[in-house]
Amino acid sequence: MTTIVEKHKKLERNVTFLGLAAFAAVTVGGIVEIAPLFWIDNTIEKVDGMRPYTPLEQAGRDIYVREGCYTCHSQMIRPFRDEVERYGHYSLAAESMYDHPFQWGSKRTGPDLARVGNRYSDEWHVQHLKDPRAVVPESIMPTYAHLAEHDLDMGDMTATLRTLYQIGVPYSQDDIAKANDDLKTQADPNADAADLQKRYPKAQARDFDGDPKRLTEMDALVAYLQMMGTLVDVNAPAAQEALAKEKGR
Ligand code: HEC
Repeated sequence: MTTIVEKHKKLERNVTFLGLAAFAAVTVGGIVEIAPLFWIDNTIEKVDGMRPYTPLEQAGRDIYVREGCYTCHSQMIRPFRDEVERYGHYSLAAESMYDHPFQWGSKRTGPDLARVGNRYSDEWHVQHLKDPRAVVPESIMPTYAHLAEHDLDMGDMTATLRTLYQIGVPYSQDDIAKANDDLKTQADPNADAADLQKRYPKAQARDFDGDPKRLTEMDALVAYLQMMGTLVDVNAPAAQEALAKEKGR
């Protein structure tokens, strides 16, 4: 009786046989991996709270990309204990589903920013962006003081939102039509933001850069930073699980 090792020896030494066997293994593996993707609608689990970015947040995000913040900052907290203890709950796939392109990043010269929203005051961010060493003496982050001096000019935001809509971001026709007004409303302390906040839940509306008379690139970037990681209540499912366990006792 031949042992399994001997059988395998035969397989390994016959190049045709080995080729066919390898092909069969890869085919089966490929079908198992790829076929289900044709039958499921979405590979990303839906989570409550995730919504498209407001025009101001989107403008801030575009400035973030333009300024190359992603060369030093990631936006994905991995599910490891050290990361979760430092940055907060690990990132969910849904939290970057409206990012085009995504900003997960692979370089961390600075800390991960996926949950930096509401962690610092607007004043801190403005000060830090203008002169990082004023608040973190050992910082090696570059200065971005020019953002506070430049008026926000992103062109036609309806075109930006319409483009994002075409690649799958679920903006409503209303959102698209009001994009240019929404951009100004969110950073204008005298404007009524109720309609904006109804369409974009949890949108923070106020003057962000400390200069209420002007709408600057700093307003947009700080609005974006203050939103990051705040839309999904990541602790809700865990909290409910804990509650259910207590009830079962
Ligand atoms: C050359 C690398 C580099 C670039 C580019 C850079 N940063 Fe940083 N960033 C750092 C470092 C290092 C720190 C940690 C020290 C500090 O807080 O300044 C930091 C810290 C931060 C923090 C505080 C995070 C926290 O949790 O304490 C924020 C917010 C931030 N950066 C935003 C930005 C934004 C927005 C941009 C682009 C406009 C940017 N950074 C570009 C290196 C960089």
